[in-house]
Amino acid sequence: MWFPVSLNLKKPVNSKFTQQELPACKPILSPGWVITTFAFIGLIFIPVGLASLFASQRVVEIVDRYDVACVPEHLQDDKLAYIQNSTVDKTCTRKLKVPRLMRSPIFIYYELENFYQNHRRYVKSRSDKQLRSREGESDTESCSPEAKTSNGSVIVPCGLIAWSMFNDTYGFSINSKVLDVNKKDIAWNSDKYHKFGSDVYPKNFQSGPFIGGGKLNSSIPLSEQEDLIVWMRTAALPTFRKLYGKIEVDLEPNEEIMVTIHNNYNTYSFGGKKRLVLSTTSWIGGKNDFLGMAYLTFGGLSLLIAATFILIHLIRPRSLGDPSYLSWNKNPAGYSN
Ligand SMILES: *[C@@H]1O[C@H](CO)[C@@H](O)[C@H](O)[C@H]1NC(C)=O
Ligand SMILES: *[C@@H]1O[C@H](CO)[C@@H](O)[C@H](O)[C@H]1NC(C)=O
Repeated sequence: MWFPVSLNLKKPVNSKFTQQELPACKPILSPGWVITTFAFIGLIFIPVGLASLFASQRVVEIVDRYDVACVPEHLQDDKLAYIQNSTVDKTCTRKLKVPRLMRSPIFIYYELENFYQNHRRYVKSRSDKQLRSREGESDTESCSPEAKTSNGSVIVPCGLIAWSMFNDTYGFSINSKVLDVNKKDIAWNSDKYHKFGSDVYPKNFQSGPFIGGGKLNSSIPLSEQEDLIVWMRTAALPTFRKLYGKIEVDLEPNEEIMVTIHNNYNTYSFGGKKRLVLSTTSWIGGKNDFLGMAYLTFGGLSLLIAATFILIHLIRPRSLGDPSYLSWNKNPAGYSN
């Protein structure tokens, strides 16, 4: 081998770092250690998994898909004509049965399926500057095609996300007694106080020939338009739930809830599904069996591995090798240095 002599490699400083003599953790994976570690992980994870699963099972959830059922029988073949006809009454009533006692607060969500709020051009079609303060009103470049009206005045809030705001509404009653829906505090406080200005009022919104969704009251500042704030926090997956409001009384088992839906929102043109969800919560949040299952699976696997190692260790313990084998002058493999 030939190396260029002029390379002038410097000898490294003689320190613990360059000589790789720093203190280090070198665990010796003896059978006892490995078995104890796996058993310990298993014993921690299984109770956590059981607790999560139990909490998730206690959550009471009512899910009702209504996008098909809310179109009258004789219009089922042409749902699009139905939803686009503004003279047709879109009111629809559904009856829901409370399966078990539902403790307040009961969260009301709408769930959309096959709605890609994560599409690149859709996600970018908004102006955060404009939403935040009145000075940014004319900042609408990112909002096209919903930036300005045909006569050139700015739209506030601009962009496709705001334009396509969900606009179905729900009313609830039990035995003709109305259940109040609390629509306050459904948005994140960080959004309300830092992203949506209290001096920004809707302007020229939904005034074009194509109406994409809900309208906004132009005398209420954006920071208090919580439905809009919730909608503008775009979902990452095509099936998502968004908070609509809260019912703040307990619902007794077997009670029948009458839901009055204004079925306005057009998901029919792209085959989207709409569901209404009523759900209680527990300490893990809403209904979610996955977390508990994941803990149980992992804990179970760890215990299984621990048990396997114990068996192997009992049946065929591994004998310690002869350490003198390692010394340099015994070189049975005959490697040359
Ligand atoms: C809209 O609905 C009304 C009442 O049902 C009906 O008379 C009219 O023809 C419909 N319009 C269209 C465009 O389908
Ligand atoms: C609701 O949104 C749809 C579009 O999805 C629109 O056609 C309709 O006019 C809107 N209705 C109301 C009452 O805002």
